[in-house]
Amino acid sequence: MESPETIRRHLEQTRALVDAELERVLPPAEEYPPSIHKAMRYSVFAGGKRLRPTLCLEAGRLFAGEEKILLRVGSALELIHTYSLIHDDLPALDNDDLRRGKPTSHVVFGEAAAILAGDALLTLAFEAIAGAGNGASGRTLRVIHELAHAIGTIRGMVGGQVVDLETTDSTGDAARLEYIHSAKTGAFMRAALRSGTLLTAASQDDLARITAYGEKIGLAFQIADDLLDVVGTEAELGKTIGKDQQQHKATYPALHGIEASKRMAAQLADEACAALAPYGERAGILQGIARYIVGRRQ
Ligand code: IPE
Ligand code: IPE
Ligand code: MG
Ligand code: MG
Ligand code: MG
Repeated sequence: MESPETIRRHLEQTRALVDAELERVLPPAEEYPPSIHKAMRYSVFAGGKRLRPTLCLEAGRLFAGEEKILLRVGSALELIHTYSLIHDDLPALDNDDLRRGKPTSHVVFGEAAAILAGDALLTLAFEAIAGAGNGASGRTLRVIHELAHAIGTIRGMVGGQVVDLETTDSTGDAARLEYIHSAKTGAFMRAALRSGTLLTAASQDDLARITAYGEKIGLAFQIADDLLDVVGTEAELGKTIGKDQQQHKATYPALHGIEASKRMAAQLADEACAALAPYGERAGILQGIARYIVGRRQ
């Protein structure tokens, strides 16, 4: 498995590639009507770890995928992710005013513009994938189907957000909490990995292993996010901390306690790594990312 330092450097390198591709995909700020393009670019380029594009790229590289199409789909993933953050922060949802170390979209541009910027990023993502123009249109169609389902209502992001918002007691039952986390966050991460895989000639067994890995790290990622809301710092996270308790959110630390939540996240990372054991050292980066996800401070 690759060391934390190698993973950190690797994420930096991927970020540069993804940001260059996002620059190609997003309309320039001055494109008419400029207000919407400014708002879209503001949130996309505010920062962010670019983890979902990295997962897509690394899964695709494991099976010798073509870099160009992986990068295009990776950048589309980041557009979708940024849409989800803008909408998650809206007053009607989590009502947050800090994201990626900057004032949130609705604080800067107003609520109507923030809603539309989210809509536009989501739509642009599918335009970017569908227009990628590689010779493998069957593969990109599968990716579109995969992603649309993962961010939809049935065990997907929107479904998870709905149950998150409808859950008003922070210590509800464990099964519902696992549903919320796997749906609002896990499904999209798993889909990022599966998308990278679907763009290659990987076998069904390969896809099943990547899916198992994605399932585990997706849940682990949101447990870590809950933990950071309790034990993280605003400076490192670029988000307001202590919000979950304030808003009586259903979280792993609220239901299981901090230590048990850490153990659960670590155990999920172990299981994720084990799912990729058949690939030996070739899976070192993805295994290192699993560890990074549960050990991160931002
Ligand atoms: C935050 O995601 C939202 C969740 C799904 C928990 P990230 O922690 O990946 O946010 P950025 O992209 O680095 O800002
Ligand atoms: C967000 O979960 C999940 C999304 C689909 C964006 P959170 O509400 O916990 O994410 P943060 O903590 O605001 O980033
Ligand atoms: Mg939320
Ligand atoms: Mg939130
Ligand atoms: Mg959170």
